[in-house]
Amino acid sequence: MRRSRTPKARGTVAKPKRLFVTGGCGFIGSNFIRYAFTHRSGIEITNFDKMTYAGGGRNLVDIQKHAKYGPRYHFVKGDIADNKAVCAALEKGFDAVINFAAETHVDRSILDAGDFIKTNILGTQVLLEAARQLGVPRYVQISTDEVYGALGPEGYFTEMTPLAPNSPYSASKASADLVARSYFKTFGMPVLITRCSNNFGPYQFPEKLIPLFVTNALADQPLPVYGDGMQVRDWIHVDDHSSAILAVLEKGRPGEVYNIGGGNERANIEITKKILAALGKGESLIKYVTDRPGHDRRYAIDSSKIESELGWKPVREFDEALADTINWYVKNQAWWKRLQSKEYKEYYLKQYGQR
Ligand code: NAD
Ligand code: TYD
Repeated sequence: MRRSRTPKARGTVAKPKRLFVTGGCGFIGSNFIRYAFTHRSGIEITNFDKMTYAGGGRNLVDIQKHAKYGPRYHFVKGDIADNKAVCAALEKGFDAVINFAAETHVDRSILDAGDFIKTNILGTQVLLEAARQLGVPRYVQISTDEVYGALGPEGYFTEMTPLAPNSPYSASKASADLVARSYFKTFGMPVLITRCSNNFGPYQFPEKLIPLFVTNALADQPLPVYGDGMQVRDWIHVDDHSSAILAVLEKGRPGEVYNIGGGNERANIEITKKILAALGKGESLIKYVTDRPGHDRRYAIDSSKIESELGWKPVREFDEALADTINWYVKNQAWWKRLQSKEYKEYYLKQYGQR
């Protein structure tokens, strides 16, 4: 491997073309890859993914088979915490790394935090170090608004809000965030960090709120609402997140953090009732269950920095995008049924059996 050639932090890199995407088999990564191919010409993407339980959905079959995009899409199975595998794949030469790879489900991090620490913190450091040594000119760390902790009934997270993560998941993401920041401060590496709110859309693993409740409702199974259901999330369609990531990749200033939000604050119970109504199911399926430990009450994002600096704006209207998403799960039952494996059923029982 070539030795340390840390590039000087610099401004806009004209449209990076050769992208190294980690975690591209998962929900946001796969939607991002599809979005990038369809909204940018001449790009080439290598997707480096461990294919954990969350990456087993064959989410990119359409891209692999596509006459135009297929030849410019490459898949490498690997773990971002495996230094040798990362270096071997990265050595091919890339304009940018975009790190989506992570363990992402808060409830699983409460059951067992081990993989969250390994992948999200150590994996990020391994990836940063390899990108630094190989002189990759741009590195985007996909972080989350959950690093800020919880809000009361008023106010918004800005990029200056202190980090105060409350779950092992968000703590591991906050740690990764800080390691990424340190590579900018210490080595001048052109690192950019995004912190987005809750995404929804197609190909989301059915353990997360919206796909879980749609798939349970379709099977006439209870919808387990934690606590009083009045926790608030700021929902964003995954395509709006993807367009924001492209804006940060192409126009963001190295060393900066960019918050990304949809401006759609909704209580969980409101979303739950919308899903039931859309599917023509009764509210008798709602089951209030014991709250999640350390459950963050409210997230809300101030996106004014990315809007004013990079000219980004979300375009998907919430009700229309939710209806679209629900419809996708109705039409693609084979996709999510395949993911309800033995391991998934064991997880479900552990998570909800005693609630
Ligand atoms: P996901 O769980 O659907 O997918 C994660 C992907 O990472 C999977 O394909 C998995 O196989 C892969 N992966 C896991 N460990 C790996 C490892 N060690 N090496 C290589 N690949 C590995 O997650 P998602 O919802 O698509 O989230 C993607 C990123 O966006 C994460 O970093 C997450 O923290 C962040 N994020 C998610 C949301 C959200 O609402 N889902 C919001 C903000 C930020
Ligand atoms: P989730 O989709 O797990 O995302 P996050 O915890 O990262 O925000 O959960 C979204 C909200 O829905 C959160 O407030 C927890 C709640 N929730 C339930 O009430 N029941 C459930 O079964 C799940 C998975 C989530």
